[in-house]
Amino acid sequence: MSAERAELRERALAAISAAREPSELARVEREFLGKDGALGKLLGSIRDVPPAERKAFGEGANELKRALEAALAERRAVLERERLAAERTDEHFDATLPARALAHGSLHPLTHVVRRLEQIFSSMGYAILDGPEVELDAYNFEKLNIPHDHPAREMHDTFWCDREQRLLMRTHTSPVQIRALEKMPPPFRAIVPGRCFRNETTDASHEHTFHQMEGLVVGEGITVGHLIGTMKTFLREVFQQELEVRLRPGYFPFVEPGFELDVRCPFCAQGCSVCKRSTWIELCPCGMVHPAVLKAGGIDSQRYTGFAFGLGLSRLVMLRYGIDDIRHLMGADVRFLEQF
Ligand code: DAH
Repeated sequence: MSAERAELRERALAAISAAREPSELARVEREFLGKDGALGKLLGSIRDVPPAERKAFGEGANELKRALEAALAERRAVLERERLAAERTDEHFDATLPARALAHGSLHPLTHVVRRLEQIFSSMGYAILDGPEVELDAYNFEKLNIPHDHPAREMHDTFWCDREQRLLMRTHTSPVQIRALEKMPPPFRAIVPGRCFRNETTDASHEHTFHQMEGLVVGEGITVGHLIGTMKTFLREVFQQELEVRLRPGYFPFVEPGFELDVRCPFCAQGCSVCKRSTWIELCPCGMVHPAVLKAGGIDSQRYTGFAFGLGLSRLVMLRYGIDDIRHLMGADVRFLEQF
């Protein structure tokens, strides 16, 4: 019996090492270890073995089975290594070629700046609000103290959606001031980053679609001091340096008094192209919320005061990244966008 087993082992190992292909190896496996394979037949002959020797016979056969399985696995690994090695010496394969670059997107510079501003203002307790881009005349103008015949309307070249229903594309983010006043009981602080639209001829500093960030703080005893302190804090965070600010009088129907807030140019000391040689950059119109606006929002203007500002986001983004033409922002040119 053991002679038969030894002969089977010889034959199987020879066939395994002679196999050149995985398919050939599979055939050898079937031939020796398969259901009707040679080893199976050997095991079947256990009936002819005297009972006293059957245990040893069985152990011997099992040992042979394990040995063949190990030899098969080893041969399979060798064939796989050979296949990979052959692939690598393929004349078309060049291991020194750089890998194909992974295409990945990037955030729009506006998104970067808005996210940063949202962080800064949330850390000061501001809520972040949103409002409709298609707005009612009542919110965009009327409740902001800009009645029908008011000359301030001329500043807002409006895209009308439906003149009869007084529906328009909002020309600023200020209408959300009214929506906030109507919904939120004071005291509260809120910012509103968003898109605005004006029917303007476009050039390097005018675009029909642009971005603003409205700010509104309402409470008892809110003063211009709070407004200045807030603006200085946020500028310090954005530009990472202490920047001098100044207020000039400015007129907007929804604030009284109204101001233009200028910031000392962060790029130069003696005048440059960004600050138009003046060392001051006009950054943000602002003011104390007009009592008529508080009333239009249902707020007791005797008890509460507030300040508001209308940050030109597009402008801030351009300042921050040194972008010289506002049309890049909405231009969707991938070569521009990839840089951020
Ligand atoms: N909404 C004004 C505009 O787009 C800007 C503005 C001015 C907003 C003064 C304000 C403000 O909140 O207080 O022209």
